[in-house]
Amino acid sequence: MRVPLLDLSEQYRLLAEPIRQELDEILRTQSFILGPKVEEFERALAAYCGVKHAIGVSSGTDALLAILMAMEIGPNDAVITTAYTFFATAGCVARLGATPIFVDIDPVTFNISPAAIANFLENECRRNEHGELVNFEGRRVRAIIPVHLFGLCCEMDAINEIAAGYSLAVIEDAAQAIGAEYPAQGGARQAGTMSAVGSLSFYPSKNLGAAGDAGAIICNDDELAARFRIYRQHGMEPRYFHHVVGGNFRIDAIQASILKIKLPHLDGWSAARRKVADVYREEFNARGLTNTLTLPAEPYRERGLTNHHIYHQYVIRTPRRDELQKHLTARGIASAITRSACTSRSASPILGTAGAIYRRRKRPRRRRWRSRFIPS
Ligand SMILES: Cc1ncc(COP(=O)(O)O)c(C=O)c1O
Repeated sequence: MRVPLLDLSEQYRLLAEPIRQELDEILRTQSFILGPKVEEFERALAAYCGVKHAIGVSSGTDALLAILMAMEIGPNDAVITTAYTFFATAGCVARLGATPIFVDIDPVTFNISPAAIANFLENECRRNEHGELVNFEGRRVRAIIPVHLFGLCCEMDAINEIAAGYSLAVIEDAAQAIGAEYPAQGGARQAGTMSAVGSLSFYPSKNLGAAGDAGAIICNDDELAARFRIYRQHGMEPRYFHHVVGGNFRIDAIQASILKIKLPHLDGWSAARRKVADVYREEFNARGLTNTLTLPAEPYRERGLTNHHIYHQYVIRTPRRDELQKHLTARGIASAITRSACTSRSASPILGTAGAIYRRRKRPRRRRWRSRFIPS
């Protein structure tokens, strides 16, 4: 039996009718870029995230790029982040001529380690003659980009506290974590809303996926939001007056409309992923496999949150990755095997199974594989 990484047709089956109606209307009106459909989606997204501003953009990558451009991060600057993420996080920093500085992850959560950030700032940075914080190469350290990987929030209280101590901006890469919650000191907060600004991706396979590329920037600051909107459209404000160089980072009406239709279902879909993750945990435990496998950490589980983890991916660690891969792929079960790219020496190979989660929810009759997929 073949388990695909993701079966998006299930979602489409559920929402085909309203999506087709929206598409018909857009085709009838020929209003494709930005406009009222985008504004409607932006309002709905801001309300869902609990922020003042949501700015639809062309992808999660472009969200990061527009944020960094609007914050004037460029050559001679450095940004602290994690290597254990999708390429776009550090790629956007490098694309602007700035230097990504990789600090280690927490080997339990796979998210950037606040202790490693503090260690880097304390021991590898200094103040230059202008009072600027610089690294050993003399680059100005400007910001931290924590990435809420696989749908689990980073330890944002600690990260924000460290950043505040050094006057660093925090930009949350929440591409994989829309709706995921964190038990912040002042109460539950959503991924992307706990610092100056957050970026979201609606790549089709994300928990909230478009029918193509799309993303969003979310923030509470009016001035910053206005800047992001200007950078989204070639630095243009008012029309045809360009005071800064931005890019074409616009979202289109078709993506925005589809996302608006899907948004009310997001929490239900994430809850279903959590349920399947619970089944995985029970089964791995029942078969005594937790000696060989490390299951995803759930540090916020008992903290009274709705979305303590949204399981964009269910990722396990095993020192026997290749053996496991062979076994699972032979049965068509493994969806993605990756070699750990993190900087932590203690991290071992990782195996991702998001697709299996999705498939299992929709195809309960195919559960038989669960009891057979690893030799006892
Ligand atoms: C952590 C992270 N950051 C950024 C991105 C970039 O998003 P997009 O593919 O929408 O450009 C992704 C996409 O997978 C991601 O996982």
